[in-house]
Amino acid sequence: MNAVCGLLDPPLKLILFGGKGGVGKTTLASCAAVYLASMGKKTLLISTDPAHSISDSLGVEIGCDMKNSGIGGLDAIEISAEKEFAAFKKRYDMELRSLFDTGSYLDRDDVDSILALQMPGMDEVMGLKQVIDLVMEGRYEKHVMDTAPTGHALRLLHLPELLDEWIKVVSKMRWKYRYMVERFSGGYRQDAVDGLLVSMKKSVRHIVEILKDHKACEFIVVTIPEDMAIRETARLMDSLKGFGIRVRNLIINNICSSATCPFCMERRRWQEIYIRSARERFNDLNIVEVPLQPREVKGPVDLRRLAGIAFADGCHTI
Ligand SMILES: Nc1ncnc2c1ncn2[C@@H]1O[C@H](COP(=O)(O)OP(=O)(O)OP(=O)(O)O)[C@@H](O)[C@H]1O
Ligand SMILES: [Mg+2]
Repeated sequence: MNAVCGLLDPPLKLILFGGKGGVGKTTLASCAAVYLASMGKKTLLISTDPAHSISDSLGVEIGCDMKNSGIGGLDAIEISAEKEFAAFKKRYDMELRSLFDTGSYLDRDDVDSILALQMPGMDEVMGLKQVIDLVMEGRYEKHVMDTAPTGHALRLLHLPELLDEWIKVVSKMRWKYRYMVERFSGGYRQDAVDGLLVSMKKSVRHIVEILKDHKACEFIVVTIPEDMAIRETARLMDSLKGFGIRVRNLIINNICSSATCPFCMERRRWQEIYIRSARERFNDLNIVEVPLQPREVKGPVDLRRLAGIAFADGCHTI
């Protein structure tokens, strides 16, 4: 049977798992991390899904600080985008205040209320930035990321570009302000706000560069053999292609197999239709069929067992 390939490639640092809700993303991301650790790779399992569930999958409470998963060579972290954004706002309070203050008619109360806003998307970019910072830091050889269901994950991938647009608009405002200062006071010196914008721009560039680097990063799509799931997979594949992120493995999870149980045989007959359709549609991918286990997959023993089926040893290239 085919297994997921290429995860041991040395330049591959970041492996994202994504797909429709409930298809087994967290389970298979955990299995991949367990597999990589068992192959001697220092691995970090990261969750960016606000409904963190890697703790449940590993059977160990993880939380937002990096900690060992109870499995040798495997650490884990559940990133809180909200907490990251709060820390960012605290760290750059002065710069953010003067950013909204200069060249605008906002008073202190207005600025306070802007800074207290949730700013949808911004917190998630901060979460993603933390992932990329961890990758850049290089403490781990492999980073396996469990994402939230499709729509959320895609939005997450497009956020850096949105943030880039935001930086462009703000910078334009600043240029106007700078022009006025230069005209009336004869000189303009770069201040902390310019510094912040430049550093944000650099972060965005880093995030996008790593996500689109086909050697350093890949996205593993997880699906199940059902009509709705395969349709959503096709949309996800298109978006990932458009975004420029590498996809070479597609996992079809929960495949029934039994030669005696009539219910399972009937399910399998229906599943065959969608397995065939996925194989035709995604014929350029390594398709991995993962069998439905008799019970939920939870804790190191179950994860190791399923990892042994889904991930192959010594398979460096497809
Ligand atoms: N191959 C399998 N056989 C049996 N049970 C499985 C299999 N894969 C996953 N499961 C179980 O299915 C349930 C859902 O899996 P999981 O939480 O990994 O899905 P998910 O895609 O991460 O869900 P969500 O979209 O909610 O994050 C879990 O209870 C898990 O143990
Ligand atoms: Mg999940």
